[in-house]
Amino acid sequence: MARKREATMEPENEEDVITEMPAKGSELTSLPGVGAATAEKLSMSGFDTLLSIAVATPGEIVEMAGVTELAARKIIQSAREKMEMGFESADEVLKKRENIQRIYTGSNALNRLLGGGFESGAITECFGAYGSGKSQIAHSLCVNVQRENPDCVAVFIDTESTFRPERIKQMVQQGMEPDRVLKNIKVARAFNSDHQMLLAEKVEDLIKRGLNVKLLVVDSLTAHFRAEFVGRGTLADRQQKLNKHMHTLMRLATTYNLCVYITNQVMAKPDVFFGDPTEAIGGHIVSHNSTYRIYLRRGKKGSRVAKMVDSPNLPEGEAAFYVEESGIRDV
Ligand SMILES: Nc1ncnc2c1ncn2[C@@H]1O[C@H](COP(=O)(O)OP(=O)(O)OP(=O)(O)O)[C@@H](O)[C@H]1O
Ligand SMILES: [Mg+2]
Repeated sequence: MARKREATMEPENEEDVITEMPAKGSELTSLPGVGAATAEKLSMSGFDTLLSIAVATPGEIVEMAGVTELAARKIIQSAREKMEMGFESADEVLKKRENIQRIYTGSNALNRLLGGGFESGAITECFGAYGSGKSQIAHSLCVNVQRENPDCVAVFIDTESTFRPERIKQMVQQGMEPDRVLKNIKVARAFNSDHQMLLAEKVEDLIKRGLNVKLLVVDSLTAHFRAEFVGRGTLADRQQKLNKHMHTLMRLATTYNLCVYITNQVMAKPDVFFGDPTEAIGGHIVSHNSTYRIYLRRGKKGSRVAKMVDSPNLPEGEAAFYVEESGIRDV
């Protein structure tokens, strides 16, 4: 029982949490040549709205739904006709960006690298070797998201059993109530990749039930996927599921103006002799779906170095910081 409880976000109300999955795909079956089976394949791969199909490439639809290229073109064309591809003027976009909230870490250098802090409405990915500080940043964000508003809630999807409430208590700052901070962090252990994907979808239920969720952590995003899909022939399946998972995260980020923080491991690239011999897991699916990408490595004298490697609006740059008992600190 204890194990089962751990797996839900809010143990007291387990029955409330497990609700029926929304009937997806009904919108899709209105498209030409898309029956129930094709609609299911599409929504399984993250193409579950007209918009996602309208902006897809024919190649993606061919790959995900197993239809001919001609059929894929017709599906996309029809999705485009059915929906209004809305334009907004840049000043409206700018106005929306004024709603962005930021979560600070305890390091000004790291905050600056991120344009002021971890941004809401976006996915920020940190990738790096073991011990580079990815999970420590996750813990720090869970505390700091509550700093200005003690009603803010953090959701932590823990895939490697590395969430530690003791670390949260150590990071709680003056003026914050440790018990309240802990209560406002909803932790769920994900036992496999399917469970992880389901938990991400369930975050919406927490929000609809009135929790003021402002941060969603998935630590680690890729570990289960990497462990479960091994060997030739499994890569396409893995990427399909990862894509769907990333779409769920992005939809949550933009719909509810949440900050999504994901962590990712690196693997060795045996064929690289110059430069960095490591590469993030998850390939293009993860890198293209992350708004900000940060590479973490160990620096001098026990410090950590964060490097901004991809951002739509921030310069590439580096920031050094320390992981200390009280959290993330400037050098
Ligand atoms: N209480 C503490 N005080 C100071 N430093 C700590 C403390 N707890 C952890 N650390 C530092 O954080 C490091 C672990 O970092 P972290 O857990 O963020 O790694 P990670 O990047 O998530 O790695 P992995 O890929 O294995 O998950 C430890 O090696 C240690 O240097
Ligand atoms: Mg970790």
